[in-house]
Amino acid sequence: MKILILGASGYAGSYIKKVLDEKFNDVFGTYHTLRNDYKGNMSMIPYELGDMEGLLNILQKVNPDIVISCLTGDFTKLVLLHTIISEYIKEKENGRLIFLSSANVFDGALEKAHFEYDVPKAASEYGKFKIQCEKIICGALGERGIIIRIPEIYGRNCPRILKLKEAVKAHIPIKTFQNLYMNYTTNRQIAEWIAYIIENDLTGIFHVGTKDMSDYAGFQKKLADKLSLGQPTFEITKEPIRLTQAVLPGRNEIPDSIQLNVEDVIHHITGTVSF
Ligand SMILES: NC(=O)c1ccc[n+]([C@@H]2O[C@H](COP(=O)([O-])OP(=O)(O)OC[C@H]3O[C@@H](n4cnc5c(N)ncnc54)[C@H](OP(=O)(O)O)[C@@H]3O)[C@@H](O)[C@H]2O)c1
Repeated sequence: MKILILGASGYAGSYIKKVLDEKFNDVFGTYHTLRNDYKGNMSMIPYELGDMEGLLNILQKVNPDIVISCLTGDFTKLVLLHTIISEYIKEKENGRLIFLSSANVFDGALEKAHFEYDVPKAASEYGKFKIQCEKIICGALGERGIIIRIPEIYGRNCPRILKLKEAVKAHIPIKTFQNLYMNYTTNRQIAEWIAYIIENDLTGIFHVGTKDMSDYAGFQKKLADKLSLGQPTFEITKEPIRLTQAVLPGRNEIPDSIQLNVEDVIHHITGTVSF
């Protein structure tokens, strides 16, 4: 079985590749920004979003049975890319396309947390774009289009933590929200779920995130405290009513060993649990 990860140089994509490399023989990935460690690494392929000929060449060369999409970039180009990949996978017997979507597909329905069976409703352009991609993929592939909806991704030295550290160091107030309840995930949790989904031939929609939620301002304050960041200044917007942006995991095929609570995420980030 051959696997191609589009965006394997990104925060989520690189950890997914690391975990899948340990379990499968033929795992390939694309990158956009050249890094030294990709030189001579035959499994990492350069790709520029919008280069359709380049994309078709990669598909022909790698001949993947599973494509995992972890890309960011121009929405119009990404919509076209997911249309092409869906058509490619459709022709592959047992082919699967795994798409990293977002909790933002529900950012137009913040009155409650959402499970996999809820119908998405987005207010933001980003959320609407993710819904459009989900529809293209599921329309072409049905259950073989695997949708992974994720909340904010955390992990050791993840971009969000680095930004938090930089803001504290530069005495820049950190913008945050009170009365906004969210769930969270880690790069490791996403990678482990994807490995499990592939190994167990699961299909459909998955919400990958903590089983519980935490107020966003409270979560950030706790992180700053546990990371001993000193005395950060928070610029808090208090929502007048309780809002919720959470994609809660409801698929009972996923074992407890790869489920997380918010406390586990904090331990992961602050290094008090060995991951
Ligand atoms: N981060 C979050 O909290 C979060 C939350 C919900 C959903 N998601 C979704 O999860 C996925 C992964 O997110 P992430 O945080 O891991 O993103 P990321 O770290 O920014 O990685 C994005 C990937 O896309 C590649 N890329 C960017 N522009 C490109 C271009 N013009 N041409 C070709 N490749 C390009 C990057 O390549 P280079 O790095 O080599 O340039 C990288 O491999 C995305 O689809 C995102 O929408 C993320």
